[in-house]
Amino acid sequence: MARIFSGAQPTGNLHLGNYLGAIRNWVTLQDSYESVFCIVDLHAITVWQDPKALIRQTRELTAAYIAAGIDPERCVIFNQSAVTAHSELAWLLNCMTPIGWLNRMTQFKEKAGKDREKASLGLYAYPVLMAADILAYKATHVPVGEDQKQHLELTRDIAQRFNQLYEKDVLPLPEPMILGAATRVMSLRDGTKKMSKSDPSDYARINLTDDRDTIAQKLKKARTDSEPGVTYEPERRPEVANLIRIYAALDGRTTDQVVADYADAPFTTVKTRLTDLAVEKLGPIAEEMKRLMADPAEIDRILAKGADRARAIADPVVAEVRETIGLLRP
Ligand code: TYM
Repeated sequence: MARIFSGAQPTGNLHLGNYLGAIRNWVTLQDSYESVFCIVDLHAITVWQDPKALIRQTRELTAAYIAAGIDPERCVIFNQSAVTAHSELAWLLNCMTPIGWLNRMTQFKEKAGKDREKASLGLYAYPVLMAADILAYKATHVPVGEDQKQHLELTRDIAQRFNQLYEKDVLPLPEPMILGAATRVMSLRDGTKKMSKSDPSDYARINLTDDRDTIAQKLKKARTDSEPGVTYEPERRPEVANLIRIYAALDGRTTDQVVADYADAPFTTVKTRLTDLAVEKLGPIAEEMKRLMADPAEIDRILAKGADRARAIADPVVAEVRETIGLLRP
């Protein structure tokens, strides 16, 4: 049976990249797949998190999933730390993942920065925990943004290695699903950098909770170039190309169609219309998030129910893995 698994970190500043690269696609896919969506709090703590903020952001991300249109009745929504299968399977997989594979992970290099010796062991092992997330559900498909591609390749390698070592097809190899016109949304300030939660400039991203004036301001200030006209040339005009992709994704069209529509217009026209589009699509999500956040007990109930359903899927898989390895359960 086809099952999707995906997740996001509750580290605040959920932005347009997270929405277009991931969450919006989950909303569509929930109609055709059994769906499991996780708030990956164990991944969040691979770098320091303030305890109170972490709790708030975990609820906020849950609210964002639901506000974006994920149905908690149809889908399983839960936070990772509530289901111990994730950390248990991560350990088991740690023991059969060569360090050399982890040394190739570009995200670790980016996140650890210059002083790599000071990065946590958790940050280094992050991709194995991600593999455990996916494999604990025997997920067949994983909808993510382009930046997670390398982690998914590693997940497949780990699953394959496990099956080969124990000469048994226990863990299915999941397929990445990288969908839509904006699979890699770039910073509004620098078209060569990814839009990210951790960018020190809030002007680099559009947050899901930004109001109309803020979105308009950010787009007005978004970097473009001095060339007149609208053309899609990602190499030569990265900032313009990024805004065209965002436009296309929000409007459910292709970049070619957007370019054709604005062929003779100045780029400011695109920015103005993009503001309207972003407000139209994100505004209702922010409002619904606010409404949901007013009742944290209800969010906790949804998460608790989700965790029960998640355990029912993941625990037997981890038991099967344990048994395959030869770990005694007296
Ligand atoms: P995270 O929290 O960084 O991002 C959540 C999702 O948003 C996508 N994304 C983007 N897409 C397009 N453009 C961008 N600028 C952009 N920034 C983020 C990400 O690709 C992701 O799909 N490691 C994951 C979380 C995770 C996970 C998993 C995902 C943990 N376990 C298992 C899938 C399956 C992460 O840090 O996502």
